[in-house]
Amino acid sequence: MMMYPLPLICKVSCNMENLSLTQRQQRQKEFLKKAALGTRAIRSGSVSSVEQEHNDAIYATSSFIYGSAQEAASCFSGVTEGNIYSRFTNPTVRTFEQRIATMEGGERAVAASSGMAALTSIFLGHLKQGDHIVSSRSIFGSIVGLFDNILAKLGITTTYVNPADDQAWQAAIKPNTKALFLESPSNPLAELGDIAALAKLAHSHHALLVVDNCFCTPILQNPLALGADIVMHSATKYLDGQGRCVGGVAIGSEELMEPVFAFLRTAGTSMSPFNAWVFINGLETLSLRMQAHCSSALRLARWLQQQPQVERVYYTGLDSHPQHQLATRQQRLFGGVVSFEVKGDQAAAWRCIDETRLLSITGNFGDAKSTVTHPATTTHGKMTATARGLAGIKDNLIRVSVGLEDYQDIEQDLAQALSKL
Ligand SMILES: Cc1ncc(COP(=O)(O)O)c(C=O)c1O
Repeated sequence: MMMYPLPLICKVSCNMENLSLTQRQQRQKEFLKKAALGTRAIRSGSVSSVEQEHNDAIYATSSFIYGSAQEAASCFSGVTEGNIYSRFTNPTVRTFEQRIATMEGGERAVAASSGMAALTSIFLGHLKQGDHIVSSRSIFGSIVGLFDNILAKLGITTTYVNPADDQAWQAAIKPNTKALFLESPSNPLAELGDIAALAKLAHSHHALLVVDNCFCTPILQNPLALGADIVMHSATKYLDGQGRCVGGVAIGSEELMEPVFAFLRTAGTSMSPFNAWVFINGLETLSLRMQAHCSSALRLARWLQQQPQVERVYYTGLDSHPQHQLATRQQRLFGGVVSFEVKGDQAAAWRCIDETRLLSITGNFGDAKSTVTHPATTTHGKMTATARGLAGIKDNLIRVSVGLEDYQDIEQDLAQALSKL
């Protein structure tokens, strides 16, 4: 039987750095601290278990076990760090939290069962009866519902302003204002708020600036680096990227995340390990996907501008967008969502939507599949007609989330749909 020259192998490997897997993972962790965003999106937060798996494991467990009663007591009391119960801590969820925290440049992330759960945890974790919020009027419809129907019942009031109007933000601040809330770019009209200016304004009144970064993702925009205090995502959108799971996350400093976590662990609106695993894998391709979404969206916006059936196109990448310069300053690229008004009324918009053959009619965005939405009767349908009018969402508006299909097919589908008007 052939004998391997063991001493020789040993000599060679001993001359190289013969690290244990744990040491190697520690060394990689150090490397990742200085790595580029796209690299961190793929590697950060991953820890192999004793099984030495390469891809992240799904820890499908509700609770965790201990070697002794004393060890359990020490973990439950917080004397030693460890997993307790998956409503509070779960290794798969932690990997997602660590990865998105480093991508947004925050110390800590708190994952939630949805984007709305993340927002509810941010505001109920930080605000109390008698507090006041100044919010952009151009925000996702359910967030208006959270402010007007739920927080209002608890004695927390909200004033809405035009996100592009710096004076309006300033004028709306009251002595009891504790938070400013901005979605930038907004859904569906791509209005921007100046994040750095709003952060200064908030801080001069001892208030927090909270930014919904769903449309940009950390690949295109990092609100914390611009001065914001808390950034949130509906992970349901681009972080997943294939429309599979609902989830959300808040990111900020340790100090600002603790009350968010304290609320969430009691309210129980935690992210499931399976969803966290889907988002971890989604993040691995986020950088490449965002570049492709943005490139096709810019082409589509430019093309739509030239179509005779189109009245107006809303996309921050167009020179004609009133805040194009601001977008260039605070974003790396312009995003994957293009909205446009067709000539005519709601019937014309519905006709155009119904005539598409490739695009999916749905309310979601950020999917590999291109989607088409009529905001006035779906995502923003619960807003009053007045509030919708103030937000500029007209009945002839159509929103397209530009997917990852070959660009020609998306353009061709919309060309044949528009030709029916
Ligand atoms: C911009 C924006 N923020 C927040 C949310 C809420 O996220 P979720 O549906 O994951 O609760 C959405 C949902 O569509 C959204 O579009």
